[in-house]
This record gives sequence, structure tokens and C-alpha cells, in this order.
Amino acid sequence: MSTEAFDAVDVIRTKRDGGVLSPEQIDWVIDAYTRGVVADEQMSALAMAIFLNGMSRPEIVRWTDAMIRSGERMDFSSIIGPDKKLATADKHSTGGVGDKITLPLAPLVAVYGVAVPQLSGRGLGHTGGTLDKLEAIPGWQANISKERTLEILGSVGAVISAAGSGLAPADKKLYALRDTTSTVEAIPLIASSIMSKKIAEGTGSLVLDVKVGSGAFMKDLAQARELAEVMVDLGQDAGVTTSALLTNMDTPLGLAVGNACEVAESVEVLAGGGPADLVELTVELARVMLKNSGVEADPAEALADGRAMDKWRQMIAAQGGDPDAPLPTARETHTVLADSSGTLTRLDALAVGVASWRLGAGRARKEDDVQLAAGIMLHAKSGDTVTAGQPLMTLMTDTPERFARALESLEGAWTIGGEYTPSTIILDRINA
Ligand code: URA
Repeated sequence: MSTEAFDAVDVIRTKRDGGVLSPEQIDWVIDAYTRGVVADEQMSALAMAIFLNGMSRPEIVRWTDAMIRSGERMDFSSIIGPDKKLATADKHSTGGVGDKITLPLAPLVAVYGVAVPQLSGRGLGHTGGTLDKLEAIPGWQANISKERTLEILGSVGAVISAAGSGLAPADKKLYALRDTTSTVEAIPLIASSIMSKKIAEGTGSLVLDVKVGSGAFMKDLAQARELAEVMVDLGQDAGVTTSALLTNMDTPLGLAVGNACEVAESVEVLAGGGPADLVELTVELARVMLKNSGVEADPAEALADGRAMDKWRQMIAAQGGDPDAPLPTARETHTVLADSSGTLTRLDALAVGVASWRLGAGRARKEDDVQLAAGIMLHAKSGDTVTAGQPLMTLMTDTPERFARALESLEGAWTIGGEYTPSTIILDRINA
């Protein structure tokens, strides 16, 4: 006879019929799934029932807590800030195209004495992964021990590394399952997935960059606002000072989409240049992170005077990387030309993200390798005036047989002419 407290079929039926799961049912199902007692097909059915019927706030809180308890928690209490109070700040993006913000942001915030433990992931699907991008830097290591992470945080103040397998293992299993069962885009599941990892990571404060638009999980502002509110509440309840920015992801962020090219663009920002949208969002997220840690400062100054660049160089070197080494370049390029003249009124983030992924910048399965030099350089952004025949974007890959599929995904991806409605990068803010 089974000694399990519940039966997975009863739990699935409750949610399938629109009921509310009890705290005990939630604790059990997460624990039993982590132990392998609840099978993947049962968890898939439950995830789909949650996707279709939603969850109440108390259910989401308990689900998140159960995922945190499925693994270990990091402890940064050995890193003491100048005021003898622990000041660690983290940022999490819900995922976008050309979103390389973590790269300039972590060293920028660390300049002001706030430690940034940025435990990151790899890309899956059309949104890129921070670690894949940084691995374009010769020598740079994503996998470092907990002890080394703490050492670098204490000495440099910023570290970007792979989240160890001990943090929220239930989420690791569940996220992979959701990815293959079309159950990713559910607010309770996204919110609990992100926040379980961030709370387990033990950061003192957190700013969420919730992307809205064609290249994001949340396609409209109302959905994104709800997701942000749920996550901010989860963070606050867990004692993490949490706020959110809702930001535009209808069009790629910056001009570079891929791996090495996104590192190069991040270095431009650290050198005081770079595309305006990328600079604006980097500075604003830094300002919020500093404010949440009790520091009032204008982070634009550290981009302009080279302090953020110095910190970047230390951070990269601390993980074995050579900040002066040339970045890999693609063996083959293909330039896409503007087909008419006028104002570029639309450039679709999702299409560019999928094209970059098809060029080899992303992976279709977890075990795939990415091409470090693959990606797309945009030569024009929405609002720019273009002339027929001028380069619109350059596609880069080591395997030219990929061009055809990438070009297919770019069909209809832009509009030249018609009415142009400028959009701000920051659409809204959710504060605790
Ligand atoms: N990022 C995560 O970590 N989890 C999600 O569910 C979506 C984005």
C-alpha cells in the first residue's frame, strides 16, 4: 500500500474541475514530483489544468514556497556592505530579444558598493541566455563553486554565474516539462518559477524587468502588469524588497541579437556609448536597484567616467575571462537590404529572435551547443528613415545552410512606410 499522503489523480482532478488546491496538496505534489513519485505525464496534466483554470494568490504563494523548499538556499550574510548591512541586489528579466542588460548592469551597480549576485541561465527558444553570451569571451567560466561566487562577490562586487542545480530543483524539472507541453505562458507558473529561484538565491532586493510585446511571453500590458504584481507581492512577502518595470519588447533591445555581438554591444555601453534604448534601460534598472538598496546615485556617471568598465574587466577576469581578447566572428554573413524607402515603422522582435536562433545563436534542446558568433546586427531601428537598397540587417553564422530558414522567419518582419507611433522603452512601474 502507498504511504503517500495524496494521490496525484485527485490533485489533478481538483484543479481540472476549477477547484482550489489545499496547502497540503501543493506541498505534497511539488515534493512528490521532485522525488519522482508524481510522473511527468501527471505533472503535465496538472500544469495544463493550472494554465487553463489559474490559481488563487494563496495557492501561488504556497506553490512558490514549496518550490523553494525543494532545494537549498544561498546565504550571502558573509558579505557585509559598507554600512554593515547586507546589500545585495539582483535583476531578473522575463526574457526578450537582444536583452543583454545583465552584462553592463551587474558591474554598473557594483561600482556603488552594492553586491550583485546574478545567478543566470541559458537560452532556450528564441530568447537568448546570459551565460551563452558571456561564454563568447575567451576563457570565461560560467560554472564556479559557491565558495568562489562568494569570494568574487566580496572582492569585485558582481558575479554572473550558472545557478547551481541545488536551487529550486522542482522548478528545473517543471520548467523543462512546461517547455515541451505548451504550458509556459501561465502567470501562476511563470511567477512561481522566477520567484522561487530568486528567493532561494537569497538576494536582499530584486528588480524585475517584465517584458511586454511580440518578443515576450506576455503580449499585452494588462497581462504583464498582473504578472508583475504577483511577483512583487511574492518577493515582498518573502522579505525581499521587490519592484518591477514593464518594458517594451515589440522590437529588439539595442542593435545586436546573438551571443558575441551582444557582448560587444554591452562593452560599448560600458564605454559610455551604445544604443539609446539599451543605455536608458540599463541606467534606469541600475537606479532602481541602488534605490532598493538605500543608495541614491546617478548611475549614468559611472558609465561616462569609466568606473563601470573597470568593474566589468575585474568581473570578467575573476571568472577566467580575458576582457581584451578579440571576440569570435562568424565565418559567413548575409546582408538583408531595405525593399523600399521611407520610415521603418515596425521591426518585429519575435521574428528577429527566431531568425537569430535559427542562425545558431540559440538551442532547440538543452543539450545543444550554441554558435558563439551567430546572430543578427541591425542597421536600422523603428523610427529610422531608410532608403531602398540600404542594409537593414546582417545575419551571421558559421553554417551558411542556416540562412534560408532564418530568412523565412524574417518574412513580413518589418514595415517601411505608414504611420509610426514611437513607444517609450519603460511602459510602467510596479512598486511594492
Ligand atoms: N523564466 C523563468 O525562470 N521561468 C518562467 O516560467 C519564465 C521565464
